[in-house]
Amino acid sequence: MVRSTTWPESPTGEGPVPLGRTPGPVDPVPRPGGGATTRGAPGGAAAFTEAAMLRPVRPRPEHGWRRGLYELTGGHVNLGPSRREQRDRATMSRVTASTRGCQRVAVLSRKGGVGKTTTTLMLGHTFASLRGDRVVAVDGNPDAGSLAYRVPRDCDATIGDLLDDRAQVKGYPDVRRYTSQAPSRLEVVASDDNPRITDGLGRDDHEEALELLAVHYNLVLVDTGTGILHSATRGILDAADQLVVVVAPSLDGARAAAQTLDWLDQHGYAFLTSQAVAAVNRVGPTRRVQLDRVERHFADRCRAVVRIPEDQHMHDGAQASLDDLRPRTRTAYVELAAAVADGFQAASQEAP
Ligand SMILES: Nc1ncnc2c1ncn2[C@@H]1O[C@H](COP(=O)(O)OP(=O)(O)O)[C@@H](O)[C@H]1O
Ligand SMILES: [Mg+2]
Repeated sequence: MVRSTTWPESPTGEGPVPLGRTPGPVDPVPRPGGGATTRGAPGGAAAFTEAAMLRPVRPRPEHGWRRGLYELTGGHVNLGPSRREQRDRATMSRVTASTRGCQRVAVLSRKGGVGKTTTTLMLGHTFASLRGDRVVAVDGNPDAGSLAYRVPRDCDATIGDLLDDRAQVKGYPDVRRYTSQAPSRLEVVASDDNPRITDGLGRDDHEEALELLAVHYNLVLVDTGTGILHSATRGILDAADQLVVVVAPSLDGARAAAQTLDWLDQHGYAFLTSQAVAAVNRVGPTRRVQLDRVERHFADRCRAVVRIPEDQHMHDGAQASLDDLRPRTRTAYVELAAAVADGFQAASQEAP
């Protein structure tokens, strides 16, 4: 029986440095004043790192019989997390990766009814419930979008109001007056849906709204309408760091998503195409569509492809929370969030 609470030391020499072994030489660090010095020579205090000086502790299992055994023995028998739990933890650390500055993610497709609004919301709920920072979803549909109808509303303000009052919006408490917050912590900015409004918001308005939100949120998700040619969508694309392209698992739905990428490539947004994540949404049993071929097309053009299953709890286009969904649908949204978060670093590095 294993009665150790520490990981076995690596026989290959990889991993944590075993006690008694001196850490290797430290790279010279350039100093602002010129010249180079060594940050912590082997004999200095810099040698006292956790990796060098502490015995590595085996993580505690959080689930299943391994957890039961751990608790039953008062922590003496620690088999560590199962492979599945280790995989889940790795996914979780991708989802919670830090961002350098705000990341703006637009959810897009040339076709209506494929799940753009649903994907924006569920991705937003997933990020907001798993991350500690601020996440907002904006309805960027210039034509009476439905995003804000899918969360409990605690304010009537819209993106138009936010822009009208932009001069007064100085800090987070000011901007919060224009958002509704769901129990997941996701905040939502509604679109203008007043039928009397004739001059919808255009390219500059959307770009400006996203710039404003970027000051107060770590992550801004933008739902879009079907009109990729609409000036509103151009403003959103100009501000976006990365895209989620929603693909319906049908011939016309997949073609429309591929046309969306063609259009982006031809209009100066090829960098967004290659960094995009394709979400194949509403996957159920298909008769003739060969999903693996559809996915291969998008895998060749985009950074990642994730399948979201058909889930009856989202059929109604009504309010739905992550808790309502089947576990495999929830897992799929966590995978989607992880794929999007993998792009945070690349997007940050491209930032000026
Ligand atoms: N994975 C899914 N499973 C079941 N129903 C879905 C799924 N994704 C979207 N829906 C439903 O399909 C309809 C269209 O989705 P929506 O997100 O409004 O599309 P879009 O924004 O692209 O027009 C809505 O009723 C929505 O609830
Ligand atoms: Mg929509």
